Amino acid sequence: NHSNKEEASMFICDLIINRINAFKPNQNKKFVLCLPTGSTPLLVYKELAERCKQGKISFEHVITINLDEYAGLEPDHEQSYYHFMEESFFSKALSELTAPFELVDIPLNQFHLLPGSPIPPLNESHEDSCSTYESLITSLGGINLSFCGIGENGHIAFNEPGSSFNFRTRLVKLDEETRKVNARFFYDKSHVPTHALTMGIGTIMAAQEIIVLAIDSKKSEAVRNALEGGINHLCPASVLQLHETVIFVTDEEASQDL
Ligand code: GLP
Repeated sequence: NHSNKEEASMFICDLIINRINAFKPNQNKKFVLCLPTGSTPLLVYKELAERCKQGKISFEHVITINLDEYAGLEPDHEQSYYHFMEESFFSKALSELTAPFELVDIPLNQFHLLPGSPIPPLNESHEDSCSTYESLITSLGGINLSFCGIGENGHIAFNEPGSSFNFRTRLVKLDEETRKVNARFFYDKSHVPTHALTMGIGTIMAAQEIIVLAIDSKKSEAVRNALEGGINHLCPASVLQLHETVIFVTDEEASQDL
């Protein structure tokens, strides 16, 4: 628990850097880092980008893989997670690698996102994209560190209440509650996609280590349910209690109900 979101975000940033720097890559294995979107990780990305520019961390031996994406949004849609990652992190952290940076320049073999819309020339269906993503994670030797947020309803990635703990990456229907909460990023709720592609709880739980960041009082109930409410698929994040290496990072407000 940290006194404010700045300290909590700094803690996460330091932890990610420590893990990457401590990792010994070899020909067969790079550090696989799973990344979230949303307003919660913004400060972490800002600080990580800063440290990249200062040369305190290199992504040379890191492969990132994002948790989720809205179904039906093109990569250049303002609210696609592809666009979010480009804006909030990749373009700032990695400009030296790809300058002048443009969306199409994201080296897709290093920074992976689920495609919200079919990508030519394969034009895979959403279901096929999800299977491809699972195969990709397997071929990368699994996830070393999964950095997640938590939804107000206790979701992790877009695994909504009721999701099986065994589910892998798949197409899901979003909860009306989630669409309402996320409507703040769109013109109004009717513009929020009804479906998303998400890593499954089973996929996330297979990571070697998981860190969750929760900030703000609007997350306090979800944090309490996740940590003290017993393991229940109505609060997907409660499954994390079953993982051996999880760190839950909060600010005062998010932990106020513990
Ligand atoms: C979104 C994302 C999640 C994220 C959560 C919290 O809908 N799918 O991956 O962790 O909801 O978002 P925020 O950080 O904006 O509260």
